Amino acid sequence: MLKENEVYNFRVEDYNYDGGGVCKYDKSVIFVDDVLKGEFVNIKITNVNNKKNIAFGELIKVIEPSEMRVEKLCPHTTCNGCQLMHVKYADQLLIKKSIVEGVIKHIGKLDNIEVNNTIGMENPLNYRNKASVPFAKKDKVVEAGFYEKNTHNIVNFDKCMIHPNALTEIIQTVKNWILKYEIPVFDEKTLQGKIKHVIVRFGDDEIMVGIISKSKKISDPKKLIQMLRECNKKITSVVLSVNALDNNVIIDDKSENIVLYGKETIVSSIGEYKFNVSVDSFFQVNKTQTEVLYKTALGFLGLKGNETVIDAYCGVASISLFISKHCKKVIGIESNKKAVNDGRKNITLNKVTNVELIEGACEDEFDKIKEKIDAIIIDPPRKGCDKRFLHSMIKASPDKIVYISCNPSTLARDLNYINENGYKVKTIQPVDMFPYTYHIENVVLIEKK
Ligand SMILES: C[S@@+](CC[C@H](N)C(=O)[O-])C[C@H]1O[C@@H](n2cnc3c(N)ncnc32)[C@H](O)[C@@H]1O
Repeated sequence: MLKENEVYNFRVEDYNYDGGGVCKYDKSVIFVDDVLKGEFVNIKITNVNNKKNIAFGELIKVIEPSEMRVEKLCPHTTCNGCQLMHVKYADQLLIKKSIVEGVIKHIGKLDNIEVNNTIGMENPLNYRNKASVPFAKKDKVVEAGFYEKNTHNIVNFDKCMIHPNALTEIIQTVKNWILKYEIPVFDEKTLQGKIKHVIVRFGDDEIMVGIISKSKKISDPKKLIQMLRECNKKITSVVLSVNALDNNVIIDDKSENIVLYGKETIVSSIGEYKFNVSVDSFFQVNKTQTEVLYKTALGFLGLKGNETVIDAYCGVASISLFISKHCKKVIGIESNKKAVNDGRKNITLNKVTNVELIEGACEDEFDKIKEKIDAIIIDPPRKGCDKRFLHSMIKASPDKIVYISCNPSTLARDLNYINENGYKVKTIQPVDMFPYTYHIENVVLIEKK
């Protein structure tokens, strides 16, 4: 039987759905991060669950490395941001494809469906246009970085490989302001202090800095603005977002946004469409791959120009706008009020007249649409679609359904249901929206049987 804190040598047999490795011992399955299929590894068991026959291990040494292994580009080994930093980029794409194949087969129970090669990025670094950086203060030292796995311990970063290089200096500038003017940092244990997080958003040619504070009153905001402007001339917006709750939720519905400098929003484009992005707007974090994702979905829809298309879970109407000039009409459905308001502003900003948005849950609103629906595009959150919505969607009998998903497991579950109810999965296209992380996005073409 496996014992906690004991050290073992194992061969890595497969990948887990989160990109980690799976080893086997008797009847137990052991999950280990930072390893690759086929490698022979030395690990320490950190946790055992005998009832479920599962255990977790920590890599000590790779005895026989895989050819896919590379030196990590990033010095921050305990930060949980990039789970695949130890893998060659081309191999990350292969691993993601094989994870999708496994999930479609085992959870979706769908055989004989080919998964295309993952579409990767030409330059897979510095791609994130939004960073949410928690701040803390320990023994008079201001910490800012990302959390260690399953903890709130901050791993300070000098440089983050997947964000624009400008992030480092902006975070350092906020740290300097806090130290110089003795601005109190929020402490999760004592619930004292003010500054919780800093959000940095990178638009087409401008940068927004959002200071998330427990209190409206912060001293020396003018000094902060001056220091940020000196640090980077592209900063055109500094916003104080007040979240008075005693927790580490970054922004919630009750947050109040106060513009300290410049504009309330910055402009970000996807293809030919412009979006006004505020500190708390939902917006895709990898613009280059979002365009690839949307173009793939548009290609799958094969629109001729006279169709009515539903964009379910439409967010700020980015897909609706992207496909709008290829069809007669798009109806977007979105449950988040703020996203719907932003979406309506985006429709006006882009002078598009054939997109309308419905505020509400897809499972409640879809059945109320009286028009004949030719195609449906769905892009739900990680938990996938509500069964009621799937049922209504199938009843509406569209010729084509295009399903965009950021979670292969719930995608597979929903595809199983769709496949058993008169539709056939034609093509699955993984798109790498988040290089160096385990996240996998898929676009799926589904047609009537
Ligand atoms: C993955 S995002 C997709 C956003 C958008 N399609 C895009 O490409 O940017 C999922 C969206 O679904 C919304 N949402 C979550 N549950 C919903 C529901 N039951 N009905 C409608 N929208 C929902 C969320 O607020 C979020 O904006």
